[in-house]
Amino acid sequence: MSILKVARLGHPVIRQLAQPLLPEEIHTEEIQTFILDMIDTMREYDGVGLAAPQVHVSKQIAVIEVNHNPRYPDMPQIPLTVLINPFLKEKSEATEEGWEGCLSIPDLRGVVPRHESLVCEALDQNGKPITISTKGFFARVIQHEFDHLQGHVYLDKMPHLTTLTYLNEFSKYWVSET
Ligand code: NI
Repeated sequence: MSILKVARLGHPVIRQLAQPLLPEEIHTEEIQTFILDMIDTMREYDGVGLAAPQVHVSKQIAVIEVNHNPRYPDMPQIPLTVLINPFLKEKSEATEEGWEGCLSIPDLRGVVPRHESLVCEALDQNGKPITISTKGFFARVIQHEFDHLQGHVYLDKMPHLTTLTYLNEFSKYWVSET
């Protein structure tokens, strides 16, 4: 297993629509190893999620996990989740604002409105269909990673950029408001 190089905003792969995987592709050694590398990479950089385009691979794969993450110390824990070809439905009309950051946009954080709850259908790492019905932070992370697979980043979803802040200033001036 290895740590993959993270693509940053500006690299064209971040803006490409990622390709869905064929069911038979999921079981190949190449994809299985790649998923393990994505998990390693997410953990190495203390991400709560990582989408394949963020490591230069334009395929519909995302991994999510929150396990005592130092970048998001107050956030609820999320078990390791692998999403292949995810599809979002039953998105709540109600939205909720929350802070987001992104490994492809280092050192910044901003407030993004997201659907409060949703249902996500996807395949897991074994190609088995899964349905995740969730709300709050997990729903937020799913929307963030799903966006990456469409070539979108969280900045695109900020109605205005006035909350955009560097991490250092975030902890100085904004942290009490989270
Ligand atoms: Ni991101």
